Amino acid sequence: MSHASKTKVGLLQFAPQRGDISANIEKIDYLLSNSVKADIWILPELASSGYNFASFEEAMDCSEKIDNSNFVNFLIRKAESLNTWIVSGINERDGDKLYNSAVLISPEGLEGVYRKLHLFNREKLFFEPGNMGLPLFDTPFGKIGLLVCFDWMFPEVWRIMALKGAQLICHPSNLVLPYCQSAIPGMALNNRIFIATTNRTGLDGDLEFTGQSVLVNPKGEYLLNLSKDEEAGRIAEINLNDALNKQMTPMNNAFDDRREDIYTLIETANTSTPQQQKKNLRKHIRKLKTQYSPETLKTIGCDVIQQLEKLPEFQKAKTIFIYWSLPDEVPTHEFIEKWRKDKTFILPRIVGDHLELRQYTGIESLKPEDSFGIQEPTGPVLTDLDEIDLAIIPGIAFTEEGTRMGRGGGYYDRTLPFLENACKIGVAFPFQVVEEIPIEEHDITLDKVIYKSLIE
Ligand code: ACM
Repeated sequence: MSHASKTKVGLLQFAPQRGDISANIEKIDYLLSNSVKADIWILPELASSGYNFASFEEAMDCSEKIDNSNFVNFLIRKAESLNTWIVSGINERDGDKLYNSAVLISPEGLEGVYRKLHLFNREKLFFEPGNMGLPLFDTPFGKIGLLVCFDWMFPEVWRIMALKGAQLICHPSNLVLPYCQSAIPGMALNNRIFIATTNRTGLDGDLEFTGQSVLVNPKGEYLLNLSKDEEAGRIAEINLNDALNKQMTPMNNAFDDRREDIYTLIETANTSTPQQQKKNLRKHIRKLKTQYSPETLKTIGCDVIQQLEKLPEFQKAKTIFIYWSLPDEVPTHEFIEKWRKDKTFILPRIVGDHLELRQYTGIESLKPEDSFGIQEPTGPVLTDLDEIDLAIIPGIAFTEEGTRMGRGGGYYDRTLPFLENACKIGVAFPFQVVEEIPIEEHDITLDKVIYKSLIE
């Protein structure tokens, strides 16, 4: 999509009244009608309903279903008549649940909804935490993301949206603490994006809001900075394409310089299935792996094997189920050769959708590659699986707790339950160990995962 190079962004700061949707519509109508023209307006959090509810019932009484909402319908009419886009906080009802949401509206109608992920203080008494992930929206101006108020405190959400291409993040707020407005330039600079934080003003019960709505550019500079108490629409013109340039110096790029081999950021929105999440994770690990030369992988892999050799489980083991490694796996060839006089090694061979377990009887006995590129054993078939006292298992990703994700064929998950006497140990490169792997019913948990050198 080609985008307009100049966009007028407006912050509409005011004090919504608690429990009075009509009064809030009237106030917004008045302020928008008396402001200069903007291409997109950002309104505060819970602009439809006010904030400081005394009870769930009070919050429920001034909530609306998005598809049957006077507030949303008013915003759509206003967006159409002013030929503008509008982002606003709204008290959203869905069945018997409430969400602290933001809507994105174009002159054509409703474009999207975001539900606040991180609830602040007593909001937890009234609202459900968001369950729609971090959606991004293509607009004529560029890619836009939405956050609501206390979400700001979590750098991950800014980063994830920026990595996914957000150029402007619109951030309806009802801030009471004094930190956010001075933290926003850091978020904008770290991610080289525009941020529009529209706060509310005034009092609601015992809460006093801090106003001072800000628009910040990718250099972390304030373009708009409203006062604490003014109720007004203020605009500034920006070029969202500025947010596409992540270059900081001729040799530094805010995104390319990230050390994804050391730290990774994986969004697991609960809108996607475990299978989709696993697919994303496989893709992610594959990408990390391409950053290492085969020599480096071998060096790291040999470290892992050395650790394995020190384990009592290995030293005691007589019959070891292991794999004949592919070039991108922790290498096992020299290890197996080194120990084969002392221990019996069993290798898998794919037969149909099962693994047949055969004894390793020397390199010369391996058959050329199967359809996965794996060399196959031709030694005697092991019939008594109880003999196996140690299983060393490769995978694509592991957690420290022993969750394993394989290549997706499910061969190990079907075989490992039969190895009742075996201690099951996963071996991995450090970048294959992640915080979380979506678990499916058939997934087998390992007893241990070895992945880094003992000498750090
Ligand atoms: C807030 O999240 N309304 C502080």
